[in-house]
Amino acid sequence: VPNGSIRRVTPYELRELVPATRDSAYLNTATYGPAAEPTVAAMTEFLDGWSHGSVGFEVWEEMGEQCRALFATLLGARPEDIAIQPYVSTAAGAIAVQLRPGDRVVVNELEFASNLWPWLYQRERGVEVAVVPVRGGRCELTDYEAAIGDQVAIVAVSAFQSANGWRAPLRALADRAHGAGGMLFVDACQGAGGIRLNPGRDGFDMLVADSYKWLMGPRGAGYMYLSPAARERYRPVAMGWRSARHPQETYYGVEMDLSDTASRFDSSLSWISMVGDREALGLLNGVGIDVIEAHNLRLAHRFRAGLEELSIETEAFPEAEQSPVVALALPDPDASIDRLSAAGVIAARRADGVRLSFHVFNDESDVDRALEALA
Ligand SMILES: Cc1ncc(COP(=O)(O)O)c(C=O)c1O
Repeated sequence: VPNGSIRRVTPYELRELVPATRDSAYLNTATYGPAAEPTVAAMTEFLDGWSHGSVGFEVWEEMGEQCRALFATLLGARPEDIAIQPYVSTAAGAIAVQLRPGDRVVVNELEFASNLWPWLYQRERGVEVAVVPVRGGRCELTDYEAAIGDQVAIVAVSAFQSANGWRAPLRALADRAHGAGGMLFVDACQGAGGIRLNPGRDGFDMLVADSYKWLMGPRGAGYMYLSPAARERYRPVAMGWRSARHPQETYYGVEMDLSDTASRFDSSLSWISMVGDREALGLLNGVGIDVIEAHNLRLAHRFRAGLEELSIETEAFPEAEQSPVVALALPDPDASIDRLSAAGVIAARRADGVRLSFHVFNDESDVDRALEALA
């Protein structure tokens, strides 16, 4: 792990480094996470080096390796199990195209399109997609069991849902998928950086996370965890110089010396994104994912308790299924967004309601500001 890029900070010290906290109560990380100053400074320095032609690209490639190691640390995984893959849709699509007619995929009807359409699109090739119903904003494990049956290829689920924050019982879903010969694919675009996700502990086979939300990094950076078993079963679909064992040593030639780690699944790097993400990942690792999760859940809990006092309805998930995202059903969501905005609270209008997200740079004053605006 490149310790040099890990900065030990508390959530309150991190808050000081995030300009969005000065202007507003930024409660919209589920849309995008605001950048911290060191992230922006590194990207600005990149622009300077790039425009002057004064930095060798090898330096930026090396930043990608550091990002890979930092993301692995955040998951408690090994760098060999991490590919650099910036988007959920392309990562899911690369797996989905390898399914065979008759293979079954299980999704739920609340999923964000990027973890839904790559699978549904395969129906025209004869892949079966079972859709688990959502009631009261959540899914029952028994409905997943019915959809999985005795043979499944992939169960694809978000760590928590973009629409309403419902947090999936990932360990249980991994067990059910494995019991039916399949694999669990976790869309952690809503999740990684905000809550503890540990593939080894919880049995995930694949996990994808864009950096631009809970990892507070730039768009264009993102990662995919693939267990050794997943790398046996599925192949990368796009090959290029980055797929090599030593990318900078094999630009030419018909002999392919492919990587035997997850980097075989790498896409070419967005250098500016890697440069920025190294700082973002360094900060999050510096706080520590367990501290971040506890902080985020505590703020979301404070918000839910405040809503109850105001008699504002939110979905009542069991505690283990709560995340740092809270969605509200309000009679006039557009008017509520306007009220929040006038009070300097940034939230999102999603599905039928208003969605607020609580991350490590937020504090109690942000929660209370939102509650006052909603009162
Ligand atoms: C659950 C989830 N997955 C994926 C994405 C983004 O998908 P992609 O990486 O394909 O742009 C989002 C963005 O809102 C999301 O909420």
